[in-house]
Amino acid sequence: MSALRDWLVSVDRDRRQAGLVRRTDARRNPGSGSGLLDLASNDYLGLGDDPRVRAAAIRAIETYGAGAGASRIVTGTTAGHDELERELAVLTGQPSCLAFSSGYAANIGVLTALGSPDTLIVSDEHVHASLIDGARLSRSPVRICPHNDVVALEALLRDREQTRAVVVVESIYSVLGDATDLARVAALCATYDALLVVDEAHGIGVAGRGRGAVHAAGLAGAPHVVVTVTLSKALGTQGGAVLGPPLVREHLVNTARTFIFDTGLAPAAAVGAAEACRIIAAEPERAGELHRIAALIADAAGVPHAPGAVQSIPADSADRAVAAADALFDEGVVVGCFRPPSVPDGVSRLRLVARAGVDPERAVRAARLAARLSREEVRLG
Ligand SMILES: Cc1ncc(COP(=O)(O)O)c(C=O)c1O
Repeated sequence: MSALRDWLVSVDRDRRQAGLVRRTDARRNPGSGSGLLDLASNDYLGLGDDPRVRAAAIRAIETYGAGAGASRIVTGTTAGHDELERELAVLTGQPSCLAFSSGYAANIGVLTALGSPDTLIVSDEHVHASLIDGARLSRSPVRICPHNDVVALEALLRDREQTRAVVVVESIYSVLGDATDLARVAALCATYDALLVVDEAHGIGVAGRGRGAVHAAGLAGAPHVVVTVTLSKALGTQGGAVLGPPLVREHLVNTARTFIFDTGLAPAAAVGAAEACRIIAAEPERAGELHRIAALIADAAGVPHAPGAVQSIPADSADRAVAAADALFDEGVVVGCFRPPSVPDGVSRLRLVARAGVDPERAVRAARLAARLSREEVRLG
C-alpha cells in the first residue's frame, strides 16, 4: 500500500497546487427553503420541485416500492418504466425508447452496443465524458472531429476505411452551451451512410419548445438518427434513455451491458419523469421563460448568448473561478465552477444556468457580479 499511498499523496498535492481540488458540500444544495438563488443546478424547468412530479414519484414508490429490485430483463421492468418510455417517445416524436439508470449508462450502452472494431466512431471533440468513455469501451476505431467543424466531419466520413460509421455530437453542449447544426450534420450522415447519435441531455425540455433540438430540426423519427437523453436535468428526476428506431432498441435490450447488467431505473424516477414529459408538452411556455432568463443573464454578464440554458463566463484562472464562485455563494448565489479537465477548451469558467422560475432581477444582478468577480483585478472580500 505504501507505493500507492505515496502516489495518492503526490497527486493530491499536485491538484491543490493547480487549484483543481473538487469537493462535495451539502450547504451548496439550493433545494427548496434554502433561500439560495440557484444558477447552478440542471433542473432547468424547476420540475424537480413541481408538486405534480413529486406526487407521481411518491405514487410510484407506493405502487412499485423504493427500487426496481433487479435488472430490467429479470424482474426490474414495471408499468412505470413502460409509461416513461411511452411519454418520452411521444414528447420527442420518436418511434421507440429504452430507459437506463442514468444518462451516463445510456451513452455508454448505446456506443458500446453500436460500435465494433470495424465501425468507425467520429466524435466531436467537446462531447461529454460519458460519450468519450462509451467510444473507448466500444473497441471501435475513434476519430475526434474538431468542434462543430462540418468540413472536417465530411472528410473523416468520406475518407474512412470502414463501411459502418457512427457520428457522435451533443445538440447543446454542456459547458460552453453552444449548439450543433443538426440539419447539416444529419444530412452529411445520410450522404455518407453513417448513423448519427445526438446527446440531448441539454436539449430536451429546453430546445424546440421543450421537445428537443432533434425534433425542432425535423429529424424526429429519421431512420439514421438516435437520441440519448438524461432525466436528471430538465426532467427533474434521475435516469437516462435512448430513443430512435425500434431495431436499435431491440439491439440495446439484447447487447447493451449497462442495460443488461444494471439494476433497472428506480420506479419513482421513471414515473416522476413521465409526469415531467407530460408537463413539458402541455406547458411549452416554461422553455420560453428559460430562454428569456438566459438572454438576460448573457447580456448582464457581457458574454455571447448561448442557445441553451447554460451561459458561460470565462475566468482569468482556475483559482479565480473558485474564489468568484465562493464570493457569489457568500452573497446567496450558487453558480457552477468548471475547471480542467471538465472544460473542453482548458479555460476555467463560471457556468450560470438559466432556469424557469428564478427571479429575473436577482439573476441579472448575480450575472453582473459574476462577470466582475471572474477578473483577477477585481478585489474579493
Ligand atoms: C451532455 C451530457 N451527457 C450525459 C450526461 C450524464 O447524464 P446523467 O447525469 O444522467 O448520468 C450529462 C450529465 O452531466 C451530460 O451533461
